[in-house]
Amino acid sequence: MPKAASSVLVLVAHPDLRRSRVNAALADAVRGLRHVTVHDLYGAYDTAGGDRRGARFDVPRERALLGAHDTVVLQFPFYWYSTPPLLKQWLDEVVPYSRVYGGKGLRLAVTTGCTAHSYGPDGRTGFTMAELLRPLEAMARVTGMRLDTPYVVYGAGGLSDDALKSAAERYAELLSAG
Ligand SMILES: Cc1cc2nc3c(=O)[nH]c(=O)nc-3n(C[C@H](O)[C@H](O)[C@H](O)COP(=O)(O)O)c2cc1C
Repeated sequence: MPKAASSVLVLVAHPDLRRSRVNAALADAVRGLRHVTVHDLYGAYDTAGGDRRGARFDVPRERALLGAHDTVVLQFPFYWYSTPPLLKQWLDEVVPYSRVYGGKGLRLAVTTGCTAHSYGPDGRTGFTMAELLRPLEAMARVTGMRLDTPYVVYGAGGLSDDALKSAAERYAELLSAG
């Protein structure tokens, strides 16, 4: 009997998914998968609001979502070599500095404007993607989450429609593999 696909929570953190080309295509490719829940963070929590302490999320709801899935995917466009601010805030407020979610899978799905070459050894960025993603890797270690190889779609601006379609299909395959 084939192994049942494990449940996957995809946190999409794009400040304006309606104007996104790449993240929107990736999210669309996995939204229909039976074992996948797509959670549009900016759509759900937008930029307005927050209580007096600056808290913005329904933390019990977010933790329940996290707890209910085997794997969480953080999907985001790279903004100044980091996550968009709402995703950072989500991590700060929702993920405890402990091993409560130890054993869960964690995958990063990152889209960039710069080419793969610019993140290579001779690239103008000066750092590889693995180096730039170190803070999230450290978080995975401390929380005991199992970090998968990041899925990176480079060079968003120069991506042809065909290349984007292939990238989206590959993403769906990866998430289907559990
Ligand atoms: C504020 C801002 C900061 C950005 N910083 C980076 C960056 O540090 N590195 C990079 O490769 N691309 C950077 N980009 C380009 C985005 O990563 C790229 O436009 C995005 O991944 C495309 O995905 P989308 O079609 O879903 O918007 C930045 C874009 C914006 C708006």
